[in-house]
Amino acid sequence: MSEAQNIQWFPGHMTRTRRQIEKNLKQIDIVTELIDARIPVSSRNPSLRSIINNKPKIILLNKCDMADPALTKEWLEFFKSRKEKALAVDCKSGKGINQFLPACKEVLSEQIEAWNRKGMVGRSIRTMIVGVPNVGKSSFINRMCKGLAGKADVQDRPGVTRENRWFTIGKGFELLDTPGILWPKFDDKLVGEHLAFTGAVRDEVVDIEDLASRLLEELLREYKPEVCERYKLADEEIAGKTGYEILSVIARKRGMLISGGEVNTERAAFTVLDEFRAAKIGKITLEKVKK
Ligand code: G4P
Repeated sequence: MSEAQNIQWFPGHMTRTRRQIEKNLKQIDIVTELIDARIPVSSRNPSLRSIINNKPKIILLNKCDMADPALTKEWLEFFKSRKEKALAVDCKSGKGINQFLPACKEVLSEQIEAWNRKGMVGRSIRTMIVGVPNVGKSSFINRMCKGLAGKADVQDRPGVTRENRWFTIGKGFELLDTPGILWPKFDDKLVGEHLAFTGAVRDEVVDIEDLASRLLEELLREYKPEVCERYKLADEEIAGKTGYEILSVIARKRGMLISGGEVNTERAAFTVLDEFRAAKIGKITLEKVKK
């Protein structure tokens, strides 16, 4: 679990985070917003637009290896229709990452032309990562630096606060080493639930059996074949049943019993959540583009 997941969001913290991001914005040319391709709505910060003001931005739909490819395509089309540059990436394998720098250049093409006219040819493009906890910010930073083994260097710039260090991530590109950690829209129940399904909320703070039951109910609406295949469930075993009852069926099928022959629904809950989070049930996206 990443450090960021332990952050407790409270108004003071949100104000400090916002101020830090606003300060860093002055040093960058383009914001890189990471979102989770499985929950593109819940993994976004609703205030980002007002925080970054008019700064150019690129959106990365990360974890696309675990998301439904057809829905990822729809999300990319959605962003395109709103004239926002978005790419699907997978920081674990590096898929899609090589399009990142050319895409940044595309977003900044007018700015780059203006620099060239002013004689600032080859001026470095600077970016910073922003995103809610668990979306893959550290993985992205590590991946960008690993991809350029030997070339990634950490340097202190005169006049820049000490905590700000820059990685050279490609010819003429620099990445701020510290990501901007944004808060999700946690007052929305569905958002909180979706973040919890994906593991972005600590399991200790939620009722695990309740969470897994809700996940099963949601998955059975759009991904029934995948769930039935994974847990060997026949239609008649799940028809008209609640998520919790289906969890009990899964526990029995997997032989998860406690003394006296009772089913161990807690163990089944962890199994379902772990398997969903590892994309073992299938490539699943929980949030669709609203049509
Ligand atoms: P953060 O800085 O935004 O909080 O996220 P971080 O990079 O720590 O990533 C959170 C978890 O998501 C990590 O898993 C990381 O490996 C995983 N992850 C990041 N990007 C991708 C991706 O594109 N695809 C997949 N499948 N996983 C991704 P973890 O279980 O917390 O740690 P570990 O498995 O790396 O040990």
